[in-house]
Amino acid sequence: MNKLNLNEIKSYWFSQAISHKTSQNASWSDLAVIDMEIEQIDKWIVEGDMVLDIGCANGYSTISYGNRKKINILGLDYIPEMIEYAKINLNEMNSGPSKISFDVGDILNLNDFINHFDKIISTRVLINLRSWNNQKTALQSCANALKTKGLLLLSEATIQGWNNLNCFRKEWGLSIIPEPPFNTYLDERKVIDFLADEMEFLGLNNFSSTYYLGTRVLKPLLIKILGCDIDVGNPDMHWNKWFSQLPAWGDYGTQKLFVFQKK
Ligand SMILES: C[S@@+](CC[C@H](N)C(=O)[O-])C[C@H]1O[C@@H](n2cnc3c(N)ncnc32)[C@H](O)[C@@H]1O
Repeated sequence: MNKLNLNEIKSYWFSQAISHKTSQNASWSDLAVIDMEIEQIDKWIVEGDMVLDIGCANGYSTISYGNRKKINILGLDYIPEMIEYAKINLNEMNSGPSKISFDVGDILNLNDFINHFDKIISTRVLINLRSWNNQKTALQSCANALKTKGLLLLSEATIQGWNNLNCFRKEWGLSIIPEPPFNTYLDERKVIDFLADEMEFLGLNNFSSTYYLGTRVLKPLLIKILGCDIDVGNPDMHWNKWFSQLPAWGDYGTQKLFVFQKK
């Protein structure tokens, strides 16, 4: 599949903003994974934190973090229309004492925020940057924007998780799931090595492994065997919800959470 260039990727996110408006689907239709990400990332956030949610789309996750603990959280996205809808969502969803704000901003240039944040969250943003060079620039700009001892929380798709899932599928006669044309998955080793001088690597959480096996292997197999008329990609089924609540086992999830601490 032909990869989109950076302008085409930006147009894709603009069209997501316009077509989904304030809906969570602007970010991704697989809402169970978004909720799993919030659950995992929230464990690293403490009251009083100054947090950046970079690439926040229309703000669902940003506002959720703010509603869970009293923090100061800024959501930035490079699509102005995403930010407009995030501000509308803020009026409707905000229920806590946190300071939550939104603005237009690019992960490739966080120069206004040097040594500024206790935590930086990037969920499925680096994978939209088209090349490892751009991904390195983004990682460096996040590292610069963190205070000493601050945490970088990256929930991103990795090549290793994706390959493992596809190997599992192949064993059962299922086709390979392609990388979407607007994504460039991360190489886990490269990310860890690139940040090693400035950031201590605290771990890689395979939080989505069981969910991906349930929804990307067992579900299509059952549909195939039983011959039932079910949309395998429908993320709103009880099947998906149930698998999202099981403990994560193995290394078969495309989506993983990296945790780094600035030295
Ligand atoms: C997959 S969505 C994830 C949204 C949100 N982080 C979440 O967890 O639901 C990716 C978001 O990253 C934004 N994005 C992509 N490249 C960006 C960049 N260079 N700077 C800032 N935002 C970017 C897109 O506009 C989109 O809203």
